[in-house]
Amino acid sequence: MAVITNIEDLKRIYERRVPRMFYDYAESGSWTEQTFRDNSSDFDLVRLRQRVAVDMSGRSTASQMIGQDVAMPVALAPVGLTGMQHADGEIKAAQAANDFGVPFTLSTMSINSIEDVAEATGRPFWFQLYTMKDTDYISRLIERAKAAKCSALVITLDLQILGQRHKDLKNGLSAPPKLTPRTIANLMTKWAWGIEMLGAKRRHFGNIVGHVHGISDTSSLGAWTAEQFDPSLDWGKVEKLMEQWGGKVILKGILDAEDAKMAAKLGADAIVVSNHGGRQLDGALSSIRVLPEIMDAVGSDIEVHLDSGIRSGQDVLKALALGAKGTMIGRAFVYGLGAMGQAGVTKALEVIHRELDITMALCGEKNVANLGRHNLLVPEDFGGRWA
Ligand code: GLV
Repeated sequence: MAVITNIEDLKRIYERRVPRMFYDYAESGSWTEQTFRDNSSDFDLVRLRQRVAVDMSGRSTASQMIGQDVAMPVALAPVGLTGMQHADGEIKAAQAANDFGVPFTLSTMSINSIEDVAEATGRPFWFQLYTMKDTDYISRLIERAKAAKCSALVITLDLQILGQRHKDLKNGLSAPPKLTPRTIANLMTKWAWGIEMLGAKRRHFGNIVGHVHGISDTSSLGAWTAEQFDPSLDWGKVEKLMEQWGGKVILKGILDAEDAKMAAKLGADAIVVSNHGGRQLDGALSSIRVLPEIMDAVGSDIEVHLDSGIRSGQDVLKALALGAKGTMIGRAFVYGLGAMGQAGVTKALEVIHRELDITMALCGEKNVANLGRHNLLVPEDFGGRWA
């Protein structure tokens, strides 16, 4: 097997192994995919400052996110349909994250349920919540996450309505896949995926199916979100959800300094600067581009994390040096999962860790806590500068 040295290597194997419908689901943005592309290309615009003749022994990437010790400040982001990328995908990813010492976040739209992951891993994880019109169902979901001892609630704020994703619409995205001549033809070329999937614990949305009544289509993400997600979610409702949860809260999907200030005012433990991986508002700015402005607005009031576009340890370092205390990776771990199951998620984490460590060393830093704007050259319209 080819030597895997970076996340792109995992992506190539992933593309060969996983049915087109689920590859397209992960590997696309909304509308023209401009924001999806900018998320990566804007990272490339930030340059690193090389330092030499600095003692590099005894380096550490260890840190904390919302007060929890982490081997590196990189959490696995909530990703819908992870269990369609690989049989029992959420369990496998959670196990890899636990072994590595980084947080795992389970999506509301996961295939394995909250209980499946809790039972298989026996370790606390973060639970991501989408709010829906059926408030009883949401209350029960929050209670299920409490019973499973989830250590944080990640409330996603940027998906009351699903962005227009052309590939998913054309593919008729569903879990499990609906059998049409086109999907059957594609599935026949993905036999290893199919055989593993036959042995999977679940093949539909585990947090939903069996927990709600009278719903017309629980297999289609598009139909479910259109019918069920709460378009009236506002800060008042966010506050109520935080009260009901009563534990640590991370507000995800912040891209504007005013929204960041609101999140800090509500007393959340952290925000995630995110444009949902370019999957929601196409034309929105990349996360890394808005990070300096958000740090200036709330950096001393609330912990800030960043996702969207991270494909390497260098990207992680750039986010940390701009002030983020933590980061999240979505696609980068999904490529590994689809390529090689749990071992692939571990490989993705190892790749990112090695890149972060080497880059930190070549920047003349021994510890992630010492990273700062002095390590970067940031384009002026990012709002950053040499320290
Ligand atoms: C969320 O569930 C997404 O598909 O982006």
